Amino acid sequence: MNIILLGPPGAGKGTQAAKIVEKFHVVHISTGDIFRKNISENTPLGQKVKQYTEKGLLVPDEITVAMVKDRLSQPDCKAGYMLDGFPRTIPQAESLEVMGEKVDCALNIDCDYALLIDRISGRRMCKECGASYHIKNSPSKEEGKCDKCGGELYQRDDDNEQTVKARLAEYDEKTLPLTEFYKAKGLLLQVDGNGSIEQTTENVYKALTSFI
Ligand code: AP5
Repeated sequence: MNIILLGPPGAGKGTQAAKIVEKFHVVHISTGDIFRKNISENTPLGQKVKQYTEKGLLVPDEITVAMVKDRLSQPDCKAGYMLDGFPRTIPQAESLEVMGEKVDCALNIDCDYALLIDRISGRRMCKECGASYHIKNSPSKEEGKCDKCGGELYQRDDDNEQTVKARLAEYDEKTLPLTEFYKAKGLLLQVDGNGSIEQTTENVYKALTSFI
C-alpha cells in the first residue's frame, strides 16, 4: 500500500506516521526529516535547502521531486511506502504520476489552526534518532532525554512563531489544494486530528483499515 499523509504543520503527521509504520509495515519517507538530516550534515543538498526551510518556505519543486524520485527508486519502497510531507504542491503530486507511482490513498489529518502553534512550540525532537515529543502532551520520561535512545532533545530551528506563520501561509496557498486534488480522484481519507494523540491514532487506524 502506498499512502500519502497530508495535513498542516503540527497536525500530527510525524507522530501518526510512527504508529502507521508499526501497524501497516510500510516504509516511512519524510521529506522534512531528509532535509533536516542533510542540513545537519552540511551536505550540498543541505546547503541548498537551508535558505528555504529556515524561513518556513517550501523548497523548490525541482529539488524536492528529484530527491523523492531517488528515494522511491530504492528497493525497500517496492513493498509499500508512506510519504509524509510530500507532495506539498500540485506539481509535486503530478510528478508522482509521471514517475508511474500508484497512490492508494491520501490521508488528511485535519486540525484547527488554534491548536497548531501550541503543538509546534512544545515539540522537542531527538538529535540522534529523530523521535518526537511534546513538553506537555507527550513528554519524555526524563526531561531533555530521548526515551528510545537516550539522545539529547532539541527544538527545531523552524519551530518559532514567525516561521510557523510562514509555514502556515505556504500550506494554505500551496498544499491545501491537494485535498481537492485527491478528493476528485476518490483517494482522500479525512481524519479528525483535534483530539489526543491516542484518539487520532484510533481515527487513523479506522480510516486505513476500512480502506484496505
Ligand atoms: P516538515 O518536517 O514536513 O514539517 P511540517 O509539515 O511543517 O510538519 P511538522 O513536522 O511541523 O508537523 P507534523 O504534522 O509532523 O506534527 P508532529 O507529529 O511532529 O517540513 C519542514 C520544512 O521542510 C518545510 O517547511 C519546507 O521548508 C521543507 N519541506 C518538507 N517537505 C517539502 C516538500 N514536499 N516540498 C517543499 N518543501 C518541503 O506533531 C507536532 C507536535 O504536536 C509534537 O510535539 C507532537 O507530540 C504533538 N502532537 C501531535 N499530535 C498531537 C495530538 N493529537 N494532540 C496533542 N499533541 C499532539
